[in-house]
Amino acid sequence: MAPPTESVVHFQPRRPGSGPDPLDLRGRPMHDLRISVMDRCNFRCPYCMPEDKYHKDFQFLPTGERLGFAEIVRLAQLFSGLGVRKLRITGGEPLLRPGLADLVGDLSRIAGIEDVALTTNGILLAQHAAALKAAGLARVTVSLDSLDEQVFLAMSGGRGSVDRVLEGIREAQVAGLTPIKVNVVVKRGMNDHTALDLVERFRGTGVIVRFIEYMDVGTINHWRPEDTVPSRELLGRIQARWPATPREPNYRGEVAERYVFDDGAGEIGFISSVSEPFCGSCTRARLSSDGQLFTCLFAAKGTDLKGPLRAGARDAELTELIRSVWERREDRYSELRAELRGEAKHVEMYYIGG
Ligand code: GTP
Ligand code: 5AD
Ligand code: SF4
Ligand code: SF4
Repeated sequence: MAPPTESVVHFQPRRPGSGPDPLDLRGRPMHDLRISVMDRCNFRCPYCMPEDKYHKDFQFLPTGERLGFAEIVRLAQLFSGLGVRKLRITGGEPLLRPGLADLVGDLSRIAGIEDVALTTNGILLAQHAAALKAAGLARVTVSLDSLDEQVFLAMSGGRGSVDRVLEGIREAQVAGLTPIKVNVVVKRGMNDHTALDLVERFRGTGVIVRFIEYMDVGTINHWRPEDTVPSRELLGRIQARWPATPREPNYRGEVAERYVFDDGAGEIGFISSVSEPFCGSCTRARLSSDGQLFTCLFAAKGTDLKGPLRAGARDAELTELIRSVWERREDRYSELRAELRGEAKHVEMYYIGG
């Protein structure tokens, strides 16, 4: 039987005429929107949702506080009218949201949207990959911190298994959700010794492994600078075994630095927000699952869009609200990390979607 669905959108492509696309105070356009559709997760990665805080009695959002699909689609249309071309669906774990393929379908048909991607921990991916592709999803990014089961479990808070994530990746490949990217958060002393195994495993498969420097997102992961393995260091270790050459970014503002193996076995990437911040080209807005708009991953506070939306605001009013938030934006946390760290309370990663 088909899963229950809440997709009630009678789809009318539209781009409200809203004037020129906004630029923020540093001249950056709003090009990407990351939409968190679910604050819950079936993992308890200690660096994101440690079990002692996110235990079985933790109060996640009540269902009614999460934006419904029709509300998400309406907002995404308005963002598209302001210049957004890429949508990324995130969580928590987005595949915990029932009927997600219906939302993907509606988002992928919005006029002006060129790319709809999904970031997932992969545990539920095998069963959903074909339906997501059929609905219009272009590609998936799967988090996988290690191929060593014990290390994997230490990074996931004891949830899931390597085999299930690999099965998810395989099914996504079969479904054509490509290019598939594998995100590896690298934490010194935890999983850095298993990084080369991931490279070896995925070389020549078309899957792009990307190493993410462990960051101080949120306030609960007790980040210390020495926990981060600078990308340069990891690149050195990889290149000693498989020579690779840097490549131009695929698009302006790409987060990952790309390297292509000299022997033709594909590509890897490095996301170096700690050692080489990329705020200057950051064109990302983030929408939390309860409809708050954030202009930085490290923001302390968002702007409520759900309130006005549910109070009956017209498209033009919501558009102006979003525009005014973007035009006042001056975030560049990663560039100022040394000065700002510890100053403000940051929003947690699982809530804002990475
Ligand atoms: P592509 O479209 O495939 O290039 O996606 P992406 O790299 O923008 O998205 P993805 O979700 O795979 O991002 C990878 C990770 O990079 C995120 O989960 C974050 O950890 C980090 N990241 C993404 N955007 C930002 C950002 O704006 N600031 C910082 N500091 N980190 C970011
Ligand atoms: N530092 C770097 N990456 C992180 N992620 C979650 N928390 C952190 C952190 N503290 C990653 C996840 C996933 C993506 C959404 O963000 O592993 O790949
Ligand atoms: Fe879940 Fe991703 Fe956070 Fe891990 S990092 S707890 S998989 S949202
Ligand atoms: Fe963008 Fe903020 Fe990340 Fe800088 S720290 S790249 S402004 S999200």
